[in-house]
Amino acid sequence: MVKKKILVLCGGISKERIISLETGKQVAKELKKNKYKVTTCEPDNNLLKNINSYKPDIIFNALHGQFGEDGYIQTILETQKVPYTHSGVISSSIAMDKEISKKIFIENKILTPKYIKFIYQKNEKNIIQKIENKLKFPVVIKPINEGSSVHVYICNKKNILKNLNMLKFYNEILIEEFIPGREIQVAIMGKKILGAIELKPKRKFYDYEAKYNPKAKTQHIIPVELNSKNLKKITNIALKAHKVIGCRSVTRSDFKFYKGKFYLLEINTQPGMTKLSLVPEIADYIGISFIQLIEWILKDASINR
Ligand SMILES: Nc1ncnc2c1ncn2[C@@H]1O[C@H](COP(=O)(O)OP(=O)(O)O)[C@@H](O)[C@H]1O
Ligand SMILES: [Mg+2]
Repeated sequence: MVKKKILVLCGGISKERIISLETGKQVAKELKKNKYKVTTCEPDNNLLKNINSYKPDIIFNALHGQFGEDGYIQTILETQKVPYTHSGVISSSIAMDKEISKKIFIENKILTPKYIKFIYQKNEKNIIQKIENKLKFPVVIKPINEGSSVHVYICNKKNILKNLNMLKFYNEILIEEFIPGREIQVAIMGKKILGAIELKPKRKFYDYEAKYNPKAKTQHIIPVELNSKNLKKITNIALKAHKVIGCRSVTRSDFKFYKGKFYLLEINTQPGMTKLSLVPEIADYIGISFIQLIEWILKDASINR
Protein backbone atom coordinates (compact mmCIF):
# COMPACT_ATOMS: atom_id res chain seq x y z
CA MET A 1 0.00 0.00 0.00
CA VAL A 2 1.25 3.48 -0.83
CA LYS A 3 1.78 5.48 2.32
CA LYS A 4 -0.22 8.72 2.56
CA LYS A 5 2.01 11.78 2.75
CA ILE A 6 1.17 14.27 5.47
CA LEU A 7 2.75 17.67 5.91
CA VAL A 8 2.35 18.89 9.48
CA LEU A 9 2.43 22.67 9.64
CA CYS A 10 3.62 23.96 13.02
CA GLY A 11 5.60 26.66 14.79
CA GLY A 12 4.90 30.03 13.23
CA ILE A 13 5.29 33.49 14.67
CA SER A 14 2.43 33.73 17.15
CA LYS A 15 2.83 33.87 20.92
CA GLU A 16 1.65 30.24 20.92
CA ARG A 17 4.61 29.06 18.82
CA ILE A 18 5.95 26.73 21.50
CA ILE A 19 2.58 25.05 22.00
CA SER A 20 2.17 24.65 18.24
CA LEU A 21 5.62 23.04 17.91
CA GLU A 22 4.63 20.56 20.60
CA THR A 23 1.28 19.83 18.90
CA GLY A 24 3.10 19.37 15.57
CA LYS A 25 5.75 17.11 17.08
CA GLN A 26 3.25 14.83 18.77
CA VAL A 27 0.88 14.63 15.79
CA ALA A 28 3.82 13.83 13.48
CA LYS A 29 5.17 11.18 15.87
CA GLU A 30 1.79 9.48 16.12
CA LEU A 31 1.32 9.50 12.34
CA LYS A 32 4.80 8.07 11.74
CA LYS A 33 4.00 5.18 14.08
CA ASN A 34 0.88 4.49 12.02
CA LYS A 35 1.52 3.93 8.32
CA TYR A 36 1.97 7.57 7.23
CA LYS A 37 4.85 9.39 5.63
CA VAL A 38 5.27 12.63 7.52
CA THR A 39 7.25 15.83 7.43
CA THR A 40 6.89 18.89 9.63
CA CYS A 41 7.21 22.37 8.21
CA GLU A 42 7.19 26.00 9.37
CA PRO A 43 4.87 28.48 7.64
CA ASP A 44 7.82 30.59 6.46
CA ASN A 45 8.93 31.98 3.07
CA ASN A 46 9.66 28.47 1.85
CA LEU A 47 6.18 27.14 2.56
CA LEU A 48 4.94 26.98 -1.05
CA LYS A 49 8.27 25.60 -2.22
CA ASN A 50 8.06 22.91 0.47
CA ILE A 51 4.48 22.00 -0.46
CA ASN A 52 5.43 21.77 -4.12
CA SER A 53 8.44 19.60 -3.54
CA TYR A 54 6.96 17.30 -0.86
CA LYS A 55 3.56 17.03 -2.60
CA PRO A 56 1.56 16.04 0.50
CA ASP A 57 -1.82 14.34 0.23
CA ILE A 58 -3.07 16.35 3.20
CA ILE A 59 -1.73 19.27 5.23
CA PHE A 60 -2.29 18.95 8.97
CA ASN A 61 -2.53 22.48 10.32
CA ALA A 62 -1.07 22.34 13.83
CA LEU A 63 -0.59 26.10 14.10
CA HIS A 64 -2.13 28.18 16.86
CA GLY A 65 -2.81 31.89 17.16
CA GLN A 66 -2.03 34.71 14.78
CA PHE A 67 -1.20 33.76 11.18
CA GLY A 68 -2.09 30.13 11.89
CA GLU A 69 -5.58 30.10 13.28
CA ASP A 70 -6.97 33.37 11.94
CA GLY A 71 -7.56 32.79 8.23
CA TYR A 72 -4.19 34.06 6.97
CA ILE A 73 -2.49 30.70 6.50
CA GLN A 74 -5.78 29.17 5.39
CA THR A 75 -5.94 31.74 2.56
CA ILE A 76 -2.48 30.69 1.40
CA LEU A 77 -3.40 27.01 1.67
CA GLU A 78 -6.55 27.62 -0.43
CA THR A 79 -4.28 28.57 -3.34
CA GLN A 80 -2.78 25.06 -3.24
CA LYS A 81 -4.60 22.00 -4.46
CA VAL A 82 -4.04 20.16 -1.19
CA PRO A 83 -6.69 19.57 1.47
CA TYR A 84 -5.86 21.10 4.82
CA THR A 85 -7.33 20.29 8.23
CA HIS A 86 -9.62 22.27 10.55
CA SER A 87 -11.70 25.34 9.71
CA GLY A 88 -11.53 27.38 6.52
CA VAL A 89 -10.63 31.02 5.86
CA ILE A 90 -13.72 32.90 6.97
CA SER A 91 -14.66 30.85 10.02
CA SER A 92 -11.05 30.86 11.23
CA SER A 93 -10.83 34.63 10.99
CA ILE A 94 -14.19 35.16 12.67
CA ALA A 95 -13.47 32.75 15.52
CA MET A 96 -10.05 34.30 16.16
CA ASP A 97 -11.58 37.75 16.50
CA LYS A 98 -13.18 37.69 19.94
CA GLU A 99 -15.21 40.83 19.23
CA ILE A 100 -16.73 39.70 15.93
CA SER A 101 -17.46 36.23 17.25
CA LYS A 102 -19.14 37.70 20.33
CA LYS A 103 -21.35 39.80 18.07
CA ILE A 104 -22.36 36.66 16.21
CA PHE A 105 -22.99 34.83 19.49
CA ILE A 106 -25.23 37.67 20.67
CA GLU A 107 -27.08 37.78 17.34
CA ASN A 108 -27.75 34.05 17.77
CA LYS A 109 -28.87 34.38 21.39
CA ILE A 110 -25.77 32.70 22.79
CA LEU A 111 -24.91 34.23 26.14
CA THR A 112 -21.43 35.76 26.33
CA PRO A 113 -19.99 38.15 28.95
CA LYS A 114 -20.91 41.80 28.48
CA TYR A 115 -18.02 43.80 27.10
CA ILE A 116 -16.71 47.03 25.70
CA LYS A 117 -14.05 47.42 23.08
CA PHE A 118 -11.29 49.68 24.21
CA ILE A 119 -9.27 51.62 21.65
CA TYR A 120 -6.14 53.38 22.85
CA GLN A 121 -6.09 57.09 22.27
CA LYS A 122 -3.60 59.71 23.24
CA ASN A 123 -4.51 61.47 26.49
CA GLU A 124 -7.19 58.92 27.23
CA LYS A 125 -9.38 60.24 30.05
CA ASN A 126 -12.13 58.81 32.19
CA ILE A 127 -11.36 55.19 31.36
CA ILE A 128 -12.77 53.99 34.65
CA GLN A 129 -15.94 55.98 34.10
CA LYS A 130 -16.33 54.54 30.60
CA ILE A 131 -15.98 51.02 31.98
CA GLU A 132 -18.42 51.65 34.80
CA ASN A 133 -21.01 53.02 32.39
CA LYS A 134 -21.47 49.51 31.06
CA LEU A 135 -19.72 47.04 33.39
CA LYS A 136 -19.05 46.38 37.06
CA PHE A 137 -15.59 45.72 38.48
CA PRO A 138 -13.83 43.29 38.53
CA VAL A 139 -13.40 43.06 34.76
CA VAL A 140 -11.27 40.93 32.46
CA ILE A 141 -9.07 42.61 29.89
CA LYS A 142 -7.83 40.60 26.92
CA PRO A 143 -6.43 41.02 23.42
CA ILE A 144 -9.01 40.57 20.67
CA ASN A 145 -7.01 37.93 18.82
CA GLU A 146 -4.67 35.94 21.02
CA GLY A 147 -5.00 32.55 22.68
CA SER A 148 -3.59 30.45 25.54
CA SER A 149 -4.64 33.20 28.00
CA VAL A 150 -1.75 35.35 26.75
CA HIS A 151 -2.26 38.86 28.17
CA VAL A 152 -5.58 38.03 29.83
CA TYR A 153 -5.85 39.87 33.17
CA ILE A 154 -8.51 40.10 35.83
CA CYS A 155 -8.60 43.70 37.04
CA ASN A 156 -10.12 45.73 39.80
CA LYS A 157 -10.53 49.48 39.87
CA LYS A 158 -7.14 49.93 41.52
CA ASN A 159 -4.97 48.03 39.03
CA ILE A 160 -6.89 48.48 35.78
CA LEU A 161 -4.83 51.41 34.47
CA LYS A 162 -1.54 49.63 35.13
CA ASN A 163 -2.81 46.45 33.46
CA LEU A 164 -4.26 48.30 30.48
CA ASN A 165 -0.87 49.88 29.99
CA MET A 166 0.70 46.40 29.60
CA LEU A 167 -1.56 45.76 26.62
CA LYS A 168 -0.87 49.10 24.95
CA PHE A 169 0.81 47.58 21.89
CA TYR A 170 -2.45 45.88 20.87
CA ASN A 171 -4.26 49.20 20.11
CA GLU A 172 -7.60 47.52 20.60
CA ILE A 173 -8.62 45.21 23.42
CA LEU A 174 -11.74 43.78 25.00
CA ILE A 175 -12.87 44.63 28.50
CA GLU A 176 -15.37 42.05 29.74
CA GLU A 177 -17.40 41.60 32.88
CA PHE A 178 -15.73 39.01 35.10
CA ILE A 179 -17.81 35.85 35.40
CA PRO A 180 -16.98 33.84 38.50
CA GLY A 181 -17.92 30.18 38.70
CA ARG A 182 -16.90 27.02 36.95
CA GLU A 183 -14.74 26.63 33.85
CA ILE A 184 -16.11 24.10 31.35
CA GLN A 185 -15.00 23.41 27.79
CA VAL A 186 -16.81 21.51 25.07
CA ALA A 187 -15.38 19.79 22.01
CA ILE A 188 -17.24 19.42 18.73
CA MET A 189 -16.18 17.00 16.03
CA GLY A 190 -17.73 17.71 12.65
CA LYS A 191 -21.45 17.99 13.21
CA LYS A 192 -21.38 16.05 16.47
CA ILE A 193 -20.83 16.75 20.15
CA LEU A 194 -17.65 15.03 21.32
CA GLY A 195 -17.97 15.86 25.01
CA ALA A 196 -17.16 18.26 27.83
CA ILE A 197 -14.46 18.69 30.45
CA GLU A 198 -14.21 20.85 33.55
CA LEU A 199 -10.99 22.60 34.56
CA LYS A 200 -10.30 23.47 38.18
CA PRO A 201 -7.21 25.65 38.27
CA LYS A 202 -5.40 26.09 41.56
CA ARG A 203 -4.28 29.50 40.31
CA LYS A 204 -6.44 32.63 40.28
CA PHE A 205 -7.85 31.61 36.89
CA TYR A 206 -7.12 29.33 33.93
CA ASP A 207 -4.08 31.32 32.81
CA TYR A 208 -1.06 30.24 30.72
CA GLU A 209 0.64 28.48 33.65
CA ALA A 210 -2.57 26.71 34.66
CA LYS A 211 -2.95 25.51 31.07
CA TYR A 212 0.56 24.27 30.33
CA ASN A 213 2.61 23.89 33.48
CA PRO A 214 1.90 20.54 35.17
CA LYS A 215 3.30 22.02 38.37
CA ALA A 216 0.28 24.35 38.47
CA LYS A 217 -1.77 21.19 39.06
CA THR A 218 -4.97 22.22 37.30
CA GLN A 219 -7.53 19.47 37.87
CA HIS A 220 -9.22 18.02 34.77
CA ILE A 221 -12.63 16.61 35.54
CA ILE A 222 -14.28 14.25 33.12
CA PRO A 223 -17.13 13.45 33.02
CA VAL A 224 -18.21 16.94 34.11
CA GLU A 225 -20.49 17.05 37.09
CA LEU A 226 -23.57 18.53 35.48
CA ASN A 227 -27.08 17.15 35.45
CA SER A 228 -28.20 15.81 32.09
CA LYS A 229 -30.30 18.90 31.32
CA ASN A 230 -27.36 21.25 31.84
CA LEU A 231 -24.94 18.97 30.02
CA LYS A 232 -27.29 18.92 27.04
CA LYS A 233 -27.62 22.69 27.27
CA ILE A 234 -23.89 23.51 27.29
CA THR A 235 -22.98 20.98 24.60
CA ASN A 236 -25.79 22.21 22.37
CA ILE A 237 -24.59 25.81 22.75
CA ALA A 238 -21.11 24.69 21.62
CA LEU A 239 -22.60 22.90 18.62
CA LYS A 240 -24.66 25.98 17.76
CA ALA A 241 -21.59 28.23 18.05
CA HIS A 242 -19.62 25.85 15.79
CA LYS A 243 -22.42 26.02 13.22
CA VAL A 244 -23.16 29.75 13.30
CA ILE A 245 -19.46 30.60 12.88
CA GLY A 246 -19.35 28.07 10.03
CA CYS A 247 -16.57 25.94 11.54
CA ARG A 248 -15.33 22.66 10.17
CA SER A 249 -13.64 19.67 11.77
CA VAL A 250 -12.82 19.93 15.47
CA THR A 251 -13.47 22.98 17.67
CA ARG A 252 -13.36 23.65 21.40
CA SER A 253 -15.63 26.18 23.06
CA ASP A 254 -14.66 27.76 26.38
CA PHE A 255 -17.39 28.53 28.91
CA LYS A 256 -17.92 29.91 32.38
CA PHE A 257 -20.85 28.45 34.33
CA TYR A 258 -22.30 30.73 36.96
CA LYS A 259 -25.66 30.75 38.74
CA GLY A 260 -27.20 28.31 36.29
CA LYS A 261 -26.05 30.21 33.20
CA PHE A 262 -23.45 29.25 30.61
CA TYR A 263 -21.37 32.12 29.27
CA LEU A 264 -19.47 31.39 26.08
CA LEU A 265 -16.05 33.08 26.16
CA GLU A 266 -14.80 31.96 22.76
CA ILE A 267 -14.61 29.17 20.19
CA ASN A 268 -11.20 27.75 19.19
CA THR A 269 -10.78 26.44 15.65
CA GLN A 270 -7.27 25.01 16.23
CA PRO A 271 -7.51 23.53 19.71
CA GLY A 272 -4.34 22.07 21.21
CA MET A 273 -3.59 18.59 19.91
CA THR A 274 -0.87 17.23 22.14
CA LYS A 275 -1.68 13.92 23.78
CA LEU A 276 -2.40 15.84 26.98
CA SER A 277 -4.55 18.53 25.39
CA LEU A 278 -8.23 18.81 26.19
CA VAL A 279 -9.80 17.66 22.92
CA PRO A 280 -7.73 14.42 22.85
CA GLU A 281 -8.62 13.92 26.53
CA ILE A 282 -12.34 14.33 25.81
CA ALA A 283 -12.05 11.99 22.80
CA ASP A 284 -10.15 9.41 24.85
CA TYR A 285 -12.88 9.41 27.47
CA ILE A 286 -15.39 8.14 24.91
CA GLY A 287 -12.93 5.61 23.49
CA ILE A 288 -11.48 7.59 20.56
CA SER A 289 -7.70 7.18 20.68
CA PHE A 290 -5.21 9.91 19.73
CA ILE A 291 -4.47 8.30 16.36
CA GLN A 292 -8.16 7.76 15.66
CA LEU A 293 -8.82 11.43 16.35
CA ILE A 294 -5.97 12.53 14.09
CA GLU A 295 -7.11 10.18 11.33
CA TRP A 296 -10.66 11.48 11.60
CA ILE A 297 -9.35 15.06 11.23
CA LEU A 298 -7.34 14.04 8.14
CA LYS A 299 -10.31 12.28 6.58
CA ASP A 300 -12.55 15.24 7.30
CA ALA A 301 -10.05 17.52 5.53
CA SER A 302 -10.14 15.44 2.37
CA ILE A 303 -13.93 15.11 2.34
CA ASN A 304 -14.42 18.83 2.80
CA ARG A 305 -12.40 19.97 -0.19
N1 LIG B 1 -15.13 37.26 31.24
C1 LIG B 1 -14.43 36.39 31.94
N2 LIG B 1 -14.79 36.06 33.20
C2 LIG B 1 -14.05 35.18 33.93
N3 LIG B 1 -12.93 34.60 33.49
C3 LIG B 1 -12.54 34.87 32.22
C4 LIG B 1 -13.25 35.76 31.38
N4 LIG B 1 -12.61 35.87 30.21
C5 LIG B 1 -11.54 35.05 30.29
N5 LIG B 1 -11.48 34.45 31.50
C6 LIG B 1 -10.45 33.50 31.95
O1 LIG B 1 -9.33 33.60 31.09
C7 LIG B 1 -9.16 32.38 30.32
C8 LIG B 1 -8.75 32.71 28.90
O2 LIG B 1 -9.74 33.50 28.30
P1 LIG B 1 -10.29 33.24 26.83
O3 LIG B 1 -11.32 34.29 26.55
O4 LIG B 1 -10.74 31.83 26.69
O5 LIG B 1 -9.02 33.54 25.92
P2 LIG B 1 -7.86 32.62 25.29
O6 LIG B 1 -8.10 32.70 23.83
O7 LIG B 1 -6.59 33.26 25.70
O8 LIG B 1 -8.05 31.22 25.83
C9 LIG B 1 -10.51 31.66 30.45
O9 LIG B 1 -10.36 30.28 30.27
C10 LIG B 1 -10.95 32.07 31.84
O10 LIG B 1 -10.30 31.32 32.84
MG1 LIG C 1 -9.81 30.11 25.84
